Amino acid sequence: MKVLIACEYSGTVRDAFIARGHDAMSCDLLPTDVTGPHYQGDIYDILDNDWDLMIAHPPCTYLSNAGAVHLYPKGVLNQARLKQGLEAKEFFMGLLMAKIPQICIENPVPSTIFGLPKYHQTIQPYEFGHPFQKKTCLWLKNLPPLMATMHVQKQESTKVPGNWFNAGGKDRQKNRAKTFQGIADAMAAQWG
Ligand SMILES: C[S@@+](CC[C@H](N)C(=O)[O-])C[C@H]1O[C@@H](n2cnc3c(N)ncnc32)[C@H](O)[C@@H]1O
Repeated sequence: MKVLIACEYSGTVRDAFIARGHDAMSCDLLPTDVTGPHYQGDIYDILDNDWDLMIAHPPCTYLSNAGAVHLYPKGVLNQARLKQGLEAKEFFMGLLMAKIPQICIENPVPSTIFGLPKYHQTIQPYEFGHPFQKKTCLWLKNLPPLMATMHVQKQESTKVPGNWFNAGGKDRQKNRAKTFQGIADAMAAQWG
């Protein structure tokens, strides 16, 4: 299958598909962390290149429920933040409406303020072998729900200060955004 991993610099999902024999490429404004097929640039440059499947991880900073607290600092609507959220929604919707037969878009729970379509399922790292909680929503087009592969008991919040998830100094944000390997492997095994 020809697989596009949109908004991915880590190569995690890309390499999970390649390991299963697929023709996968990642795309991000950033260079890829791990050598492999990667387009560094705007995802919209390559969206129409006859992909069979796209898995996308668009930026969530301005759309997520967590980010929404910045919309009303001291009870007053922050117009600049609202504009950024609306732009992020347009970016997200462009990916969801792309002319690709099968699509998965992954993001945290969105703020209702932006009126995104309802996601199809939520998943957690602890359902895929990682002892962490990080509720993640999937919007699916022509794909079955992702099935849990390995439930683990310990379910530490990714927000706990000082745990490995929050380590990493200047790369903390980048590390936090990286897709969990167990989720990437499940996507490749079940959707590839
Ligand atoms: C939340 S991170 C996703 C990281 C991903 N889970 C991974 O493992 O690499 C969102 C990514 O979207 C990228 N991005 C933002 N705008 C983009 C665009 N127009 N085209 C391609 N990538 C974009 C950012 O550079 C950022 O790396």
